[in-house]
Amino acid sequence: MGKIIAVANQKGGVGKTTSAINLAASLAALEFKTLLVDADPQANATSGVGFDPKDITKSIYECMVDGIKAEDIIMPSNIDFLDLIPSHIDLVGAEVEMINLPNREVKMKESLDPIKDRYDFIIIDCSPSLGLITVNSLVAADSVIIPVQCEYFALEGLGKLLNTIKIIQSRLNQELEIEGILLTMYDVRLRLSNQVVEEVQLHFKQMVFDTIIPRNVKLSESPSFGVPAILHDADSKGAISYLNLAREIVEKNGILQPQ
Ligand SMILES: Nc1ncnc2c1ncn2[C@@H]1O[C@H](COP(=O)(O)OP(=O)(O)OP(=O)(O)O)[C@@H](O)[C@H]1O
Ligand SMILES: [Mg+2]
Repeated sequence: MGKIIAVANQKGGVGKTTSAINLAASLAALEFKTLLVDADPQANATSGVGFDPKDITKSIYECMVDGIKAEDIIMPSNIDFLDLIPSHIDLVGAEVEMINLPNREVKMKESLDPIKDRYDFIIIDCSPSLGLITVNSLVAADSVIIPVQCEYFALEGLGKLLNTIKIIQSRLNQELEIEGILLTMYDVRLRLSNQVVEEVQLHFKQMVFDTIIPRNVKLSESPSFGVPAILHDADSKGAISYLNLAREIVEKNGILQPQ
């Protein structure tokens, strides 16, 4: 049975999409069957693995609102072991359209459950909001990765996110775990970056991943080539750190490397 991991933080620009794309690509590079689900109307994860969101006609939106089967919209990426369920801008409308649906919080779970066992990992890239689609992602997920940027106001909004996770755990998804807090865009030269790392580690202790993602230009430029960093520059610090994160998650979960 595949493990569904949502990458979520309602704070914008903290590295959710970069983490979702590069973690998914790293798991695929380790030959785990991986599905990347783009649950953000901005469709950055979709374009980040080489698809033009303008060409997308069926997205996770059609699964959640119109009941189209996920298996009918899965797109193989040009990376072995990596598939995509894309997004497009209409996903904005899904929030509104779903408000009156019965069981509106479980629509994504209902969509993903039938294909869960085809994958080792399903990674969901959430939008910077705690709206209904993010709630759907957290209800569908087994665990959540929370990226935290090593910057000013790093912890801003984290309380609200953790509270939302608690509410979801108590009402909608008792199994939801926190996979880990991921420090992103770390700059070794900046005192502030180091202060944030210390503060987050002190506060959240073993909840924080050992792997810290450095600020790295290969990570920020690879989306413009429509590829994860591992295909853009496999030897870059950015690509290597996400591979380390993938290994850390695999180890933590006691999952064996595929033969
Ligand atoms: N480790 C990194 N090094 C350099 N640039 C990075 C790194 N991580 C992310 N970025 C850049 O920072 C910006 C924000 O990152 P990203 O899009 O992953 O954040 P996000 O949380 O998904 O944003 P949003 O909330 O809008 O969905 C992007 O331009 C991205 O390329
Ligand atoms: Mg994003």
